[in-house]
Amino acid sequence: MKAVTWHGQRDVRVDEHPDPVIEQPSDAIVRITTTAICGSDLHLYEVLNPFMSSGDILGHEPMGIVEEVGAEITKVKPGDRVVMPFQISCGSCFMCGQGLQTQCETTQVREEGMGAALFGYSKLYGSVPGGQAGFLRVPLADYNTIKVPDGPPDERFLYLSDVLPTAWQAVAYADVPKGGTLVVLGLGPIGDMSCRVALQQGAGRVIGVDIVPERLERVRSRGFEVLNLDDHENLAGTIRDMTDGRGPDAVVDAVGMEAHGTGPAKGAQLMAAILPDALGQAMMKKAGVDRLAALYAAIDIVRRGGTISLSGVYGGQTDPLPMLTLFDKQIQLRMGQANVKKWVDDLLPLVLDDADPLGVEDFHSHQLPLDEAPHGYEIFQKKEDNAIKVLLKP
Ligand SMILES: NC(=O)c1ccc[n+]([C@@H]2O[C@H](COP(=O)([O-])OP(=O)(O)OC[C@H]3O[C@@H](n4cnc5c(N)ncnc54)[C@H](O)[C@@H]3O)[C@@H](O)[C@H]2O)c1
Ligand SMILES: [Zn+2]
Ligand SMILES: [Zn+2]
Repeated sequence: MKAVTWHGQRDVRVDEHPDPVIEQPSDAIVRITTTAICGSDLHLYEVLNPFMSSGDILGHEPMGIVEEVGAEITKVKPGDRVVMPFQISCGSCFMCGQGLQTQCETTQVREEGMGAALFGYSKLYGSVPGGQAGFLRVPLADYNTIKVPDGPPDERFLYLSDVLPTAWQAVAYADVPKGGTLVVLGLGPIGDMSCRVALQQGAGRVIGVDIVPERLERVRSRGFEVLNLDDHENLAGTIRDMTDGRGPDAVVDAVGMEAHGTGPAKGAQLMAAILPDALGQAMMKKAGVDRLAALYAAIDIVRRGGTISLSGVYGGQTDPLPMLTLFDKQIQLRMGQANVKKWVDDLLPLVLDDADPLGVEDFHSHQLPLDEAPHGYEIFQKKEDNAIKVLLKP
């Protein structure tokens, strides 16, 4: 089969690989019909290379048709149409029982001290071959498949793998009071969908922030207020002025570790300035690795007693945080990889609805043959050609 593989920083290729086979009686093999590139793949593409090996198969947003099942599989059969959650979990351990599938005790990557294994997501998450490929071996397939009906196009269901549960969890964790105000930092696929989901979950007002004009326009065209970071030297001040001087009830950070530091970087500089020199310098050096501009902005923007929900991925171990402000403002901070299966029952009715309330059918900006994945990665990373969500068709 063909598969999208990692070869080095900004170097992905489409290579020939042996088709996967059933290795455990609880496995299934799925023929992939549509798969997508995620903002999380961009971290592997650019900054997480120490944890990647040449030849790793990428991808964690796959769907397709079950081709073959192991002897223990009872819930899916060849021919079923399925979407795979980006994490691999068992459904029966203590953590899965709490809806914390990303902490699954059966698949935790203990050698690395990490949570549940993820498809196509580096040594840190178990080096499991990913879904940007012709076929995918799905471990514990009775639990790690979401059956969807025949009929509607793949785009209707594909985002159950990641974008939808991630946005749903981001907003649920933000805990916006009914009619309250939410600021969403970053309007990539996750931030854009978080705005749409916030309305579904009852937010009264949503303000989106990014720096890419096409992304701002796309969110504005669905009726949301948007701010271009580049136009606001003091973003938090602007947002306070828009919210009775108080700030929003909650902020979703849908940016993560590769934030562009324009305005909010000032906060980082100020913080570095109040730290002892050695720490401040170390922080400045580190800023290139784990860029914290969005997180600092979130801390500045959210109202006192409000909630910050991080869906953007962070990877630093010693990132300096403004504890004085976090503590004094009594900020609540929630975060993590999305627990896909926890949210599927909330999401299925929305994607099954032919009115398509979340606008998933035309959510993608590009649909390319798998062979063109390297081009897809490049335009998505550089934000060229209006690339917002790139789908790949094996
Ligand atoms: N928690 C999870 O389970 C989960 C799942 C999927 C993705 N993610 C993470 O969510 C984040 C977003 O993913 P995506 O697919 O939308 O990717 P993306 O890279 O397309 O989106 C990030 C957006 O943030 C914008 N941005 C950069 N710096 C900014 C700043 N300082 N302020 C405001 N906006 C800024 C960028 O212009 C871009 O539009 C990534 O970190 C990704 O790893 C997490
Ligand atoms: Zn993803
Ligand atoms: Zn489990």
